[in-house]
Formats: sequence, C-alpha cells, structure tokens
Amino acid sequence: MSKKVDLDWGSLSFAYMKTDFRYISRWKDGKWDDGQLVEDNVLAISEASTALHYGQQCFEGLKAYSTKDGGIQLFRPDQNALRMIQSCNRIMMPEFPVERFIDACKQVVEANAHFVPPYGTGATLYLRPFIIGVGDNLGVKPAPEYIFSIFAVPVGPYFKGGMAPVNFMISDFDRAAPYGTGAAKVGGNYAGSLLAHEKAVERGFADCIYLDPATHSKIEEVGAANFFGITKDNQFITPKSPSILPSITKYSLMHIAENHLKMEVIERDCYIEKIDEFIEAGACGTAAVITPIGGIEYKGKMTVFHSETEVGPITKKLYDTLGGIQVGDVEAPEGWIVKVL
Ligand code: PLP
Ligand code: COI
Repeated sequence: MSKKVDLDWGSLSFAYMKTDFRYISRWKDGKWDDGQLVEDNVLAISEASTALHYGQQCFEGLKAYSTKDGGIQLFRPDQNALRMIQSCNRIMMPEFPVERFIDACKQVVEANAHFVPPYGTGATLYLRPFIIGVGDNLGVKPAPEYIFSIFAVPVGPYFKGGMAPVNFMISDFDRAAPYGTGAAKVGGNYAGSLLAHEKAVERGFADCIYLDPATHSKIEEVGAANFFGITKDNQFITPKSPSILPSITKYSLMHIAENHLKMEVIERDCYIEKIDEFIEAGACGTAAVITPIGGIEYKGKMTVFHSETEVGPITKKLYDTLGGIQVGDVEAPEGWIVKVL
C-alpha cells in the first residue's frame, strides 16, 4: 500500500480537505456513462442547473475504516445506495444502481488509500456521494442531465469532544414538513436547518433538536442525526416518523441493542414532555457516530440524562460494539462489511 499522507490523524475535525481522487459519472439521454476517477475537484455546470435553483440534488455519507491488520473496509454501503435511490425517487432524479454505487465507493477509497486514517486513531475516511441536476433548464421541472460523484475526506468527530456528552436545545424551527422531504437526504432540508443550528450554537448548545412538524410535541431529529433514548427498563427507544431521515447507524444500533445487549428495542413516539423517561440519550449518525446527549433544554428547563460530563454505561456499550464492528474487531452481522483492501 502507498505511504500514508502526513496528517495529525488524532486532531482531525469534520472539515473538508481535498484528497487526490473523486469518482464522476454523468447521466444524459437516459443513461449513466461508465464513470471514472478524476483529480480535479471543481465541477463546471450550467448556470441554469436545477441543483442551483430548485434544490434538485441529494447526497449520502458513509465511512471507510482501517482494520487492525492494515485492511480497509466500508460499513453497509448498500444501505446508502438504497437510501440514495429513495431520495432520487422523491425528487425525480435517475437512480444510480446499487452495485455501481458500491463499486464507485471502493474505487474512491482505494485511490485515496493513503488518506484513510490508520487503525486506532479514531479518525475515518468520510465518503460523500451526491447527485445533482445539471444542464440548461429554466422551468420548475426535472433536469435534462445529472452528475453522480463521490469524494473522500479524512475526518474526526462531528461534534467537538467526540464521545463526550454535549447539550442540545429544542428548536422553534421545523426541519421538514409532515409530507415533505424529511425522509430524503436532499440539500434543502439542510439549508433550512442552518439558522436553527446557528441560533443553538450562539446559545452555547452543540446543535438543536427538532420536534415533529405537525404537533411540536415529539422528538424527531438531533441536528443531522437521529435520536435514541434508554429507559431504566433496559429499552432502546427511538422515534418513528415519516419525516425523519432513516438513519443507517440507528438501524444498526437497534440490531446491536437487541442482539448484543439483549435490550428491548422500540420505535415509537418520544414525547418531549415525557423526556425524563430516559436515563441515557444519544444522537446517532455516520458523522455523529454516537454522541451522548448530556441534557436537553426545552421551554427554559434543562433535563439532564445520565450526566453532562460522563458517558452512560449503555451508550458506551453501544458505541464500543458499533465501533468494534466497523473496524473489524467485533464480528459483523452478515452483509454489513464490504472489504476494499
Ligand atoms: N438524520 C439526518 C438529518 C442526517 O443528515 C443524518 C446523516 O446522514 C442522519 C440522521 C444519520 O443517518 P446515518 O446514520 O445513515 O448517517
Ligand atoms: C452524515 O452523517 O453522513 C451526514 O450527512 C451528516 C451531516 C454532515 C450532513
């Protein structure tokens, strides 16, 4: 394998860095071209691209992990490929086939293998697949052409502190509409969240938590991550709603909670007024991994779960098991790991 680039792996944050290769495939006249790796990280697109005006774009996020024996592997890329297809269907973009998606991820990781953080550093290689509507178009309608691309960036923790509890506040803003695009990973959801995020950070919180847009009584999302809570009865509870993003990390944790930790797993409403039913709580996602929630502020009152400074024991077990699977130290359920090198 090529020599690693000289980076301080342990101090990486979740920030962009240009790596050497990205994958690009273009869709025109009803089909995707063969795709290729390129070095240029600048895209030239029509000023009339639907991605620029009407938000016709979607993206994904997944990671490559170094294993103890020096290998590199992906975690559940098929699930990202399938979710991207769902996003494409929602905003009328052509699907990128699952097998080609996985192959493109492998190509990008292999070509940038010298950027994959070594085992034990806590850092990973984040892959950002995306599809944008391009070509000349003015009316509000699907684009005549599309670009699928994947770039890769070595990253550290999304929330400062990584596996240390952080506090969140309930936002007055909605992230998504009841029958809107909340379950699709489309850029508009994130543009709409920027102000809410900024206001939470100004007040000293890591991010905000969104309630359900219809009744504003149930927890939906923790910034760009899903929510889970642990009850004193050894239950793993997570919200069920058509307007949250179906998190691959969340579904993986549900499996781990049930099969490894022998917990009862329930997807159901999580009422903000009953938030003290949880003795531990966390945010989960590819970027967030598992971020323990110290406390949540709602209507001027702070509810603290396990502790504002210490990670709860169940959250820690979930984190260790998921992380162990991702780096190959713990046996993975069938189909979860795709070897690259
Ligand atoms: N919710 C939102 C809004 C997200 O952006 C993400 C990140 O992808 C998640 C949840 C977590 O999803 P996953 O675990 O698939 O990364
Ligand atoms: C991810 O976890 O992959 C995300 O997409 C979250 C965020 C950086 C948008």
